Amino acid sequence: MNTYNIFLEYYDTIVRWVNSPLDEEVTFLHELIQKYIPNTPKNISILETACGTGVVAKEFQNLGYSITGLDINPRMLEKAKENLDEKHLILWDMTNFHLEKQFDVILCNYNSICHLLTWQEWQKFFEMAYIHLKTNGIFIFDINTLFEFENITREFAQFYTFGEDNVCLEMLKKEWIYEWIIKIFKKAADGRYDLITEKVRENSFPIHMIKKELKSKGFHIEELLDFHYWEVNAESERVYFVMSKK
Ligand SMILES: C[S@@+](CC[C@H](N)C(=O)[O-])C[C@H]1O[C@@H](n2cnc3c(N)ncnc32)[C@H](O)[C@@H]1O
Repeated sequence: MNTYNIFLEYYDTIVRWVNSPLDEEVTFLHELIQKYIPNTPKNISILETACGTGVVAKEFQNLGYSITGLDINPRMLEKAKENLDEKHLILWDMTNFHLEKQFDVILCNYNSICHLLTWQEWQKFFEMAYIHLKTNGIFIFDINTLFEFENITREFAQFYTFGEDNVCLEMLKKEWIYEWIIKIFKKAADGRYDLITEKVRENSFPIHMIKKELKSKGFHIEELLDFHYWEVNAESERVYFVMSKK
């Protein structure tokens, strides 16, 4: 299911302006890559799966990396063309893609893996990452933890104003899936507001289960990092996993 088709218009502003400033994320990831692959960026190839609008990919390209973006949503990739040359963008499902090429880094940023709703899809994605990763390369992804999703479902809705439009985000739990209900109140020419609703579904799994699966796929787990406090604990909200292929 393609997500963010309507919310796309507001996505970068809300995510990078409020939730996760782009420069902090890029510095964090750049330092991590340099730690494990101490080479000049121009000699490092990155595959960013679920690249979305390509804002992160563009920063890495500016740092000199050779970057390819892959996403399942053609509308996301259309927007990504504003940030990356079309020849570096690939429309494909990250749970089942075949590029006949391996990369130094496979990246899946900003809890994009949580858009895979079933455990089988997570397993397939790990398989794809392993196949497309060079020996001595690293695989980096981050999750919203179950603790974080549970917290968000208890929080009040978030409201954002864009000129005359208003965007309301609220997360509900539906059986075992977490669902963002996105309501966009768009001002029409006659002064009234049109209400457009979009749902984005996410899921997460326990950290111990993810680690076990990564090991069984052949990855060596280098480290787990809490994006905010470094040390991962039961109340971590956003956790980065860093794996290598030996
Ligand atoms: C949170 S957004 C993208 C974030 C982007 N990585 C960033 O840091 O800005 C999640 C992205 O995952 C993509 N996505 C969801 N399921 C996917 C799949 N099976 N394969 C590839 N991309 C997928 C969506 O289209 C969306 O662009």
